[in-house]
Amino acid sequence: MTISFAGQVAIVTGAGNGLGRSHALALAKRGAKVVVNDLGGARDGSGASSAASQEVVELIQAMGGEAISHGANVANFDEVQDMVQQTMDKWGRVDILINNAGILRDKSFSKMTLDDFKLVMDVHVMGSVNCTKAVWEIMKQQHYGRIVMTTSSSGMYGNFGQSNYGAAKMAVLGLMNTLVLEGAKNNIRINALAPTAGTRMTEDLMPEEIVKAFAPEAVTAGMLTLCDEAAPNRFILCAGAGGYSSASIFETDGCFIPTAKQSPEAVRDNWNQITAQDNQKALVSGAQQGEKFIMKAMAFMKSQTVSS
Ligand code: NAI
Repeated sequence: MTISFAGQVAIVTGAGNGLGRSHALALAKRGAKVVVNDLGGARDGSGASSAASQEVVELIQAMGGEAISHGANVANFDEVQDMVQQTMDKWGRVDILINNAGILRDKSFSKMTLDDFKLVMDVHVMGSVNCTKAVWEIMKQQHYGRIVMTTSSSGMYGNFGQSNYGAAKMAVLGLMNTLVLEGAKNNIRINALAPTAGTRMTEDLMPEEIVKAFAPEAVTAGMLTLCDEAAPNRFILCAGAGGYSSASIFETDGCFIPTAKQSPEAVRDNWNQITAQDNQKALVSGAQQGEKFIMKAMAFMKSQTVSS
């Protein structure tokens, strides 16, 4: 069945350029009414302009779709609330939120100022928190919501010069993991996208031919499956250049060390077994991990009592 968003309302943050622009156009093409949010600043977050978001609105209208632009800075909750209020006044619902807005302030940690660290955290983490918070009760009452976070391999695996960005991109996964549990009973599903695309964010970080070849539209195709009615829940979809895969946090089986032998030396000496990756499992919640661990620990402690 073709994926359609007819009758749905979507907010896409950072939709004036790059991936957000592609997401907004694709959602509109498939029938969604779209709020094209963009502060319109430079790649480092400085400045503001409505030109780029207005152009996306005009493109959507030219293809017969419905869209409005809003220049909310996602890091400012009052501005985000105003955007959501305007959306509700115009269309009365919010079905989809794509947390996409982002900036870069790359420097090695030694040279990075705390202001550069905080601004990147504010836009990516608090931006996603603010927008999600502003639509959360609406989605709960509607008993329907699809939210996409935008993470990055820099957050999941690290990247030189991106301690601020990496910390922020990992934080949005932590946000997703808990909101998935809290939103489940109200049919709110949350997934994350880890894109690779040629945009102004990556134009001087990737070779020119890669920038050209890695079209945002290939990422958007994956994003649309994450906000469809039949969307999965709590997945991290890595997408770029037509390649799609998923990332997960795994835990090894590890080992238990008897009480009398617990020491830093014993942990060191068992390091290979503790970190052996052959029996690792993806975990779906902290509570599930806790329960599993308590059961294993109880069984281990019981076996210790029996053998002593
Ligand atoms: P981009 O720089 O082309 O677009 C980002 C947009 O966000 C811009 O239009 C900008 O004005 C807007 N924006 C920035 N701060 C804002 C704020 N405070 N409030 C509202 N809008 C704001 O970048 P690109 O590549 O399209 O990135 C989109 C998302 O994908 C970002 O979250 C980025 O971190 C993430 N990402 C991109 C990758 C890539 O390969 N392009 C790789 C991994 C993650």
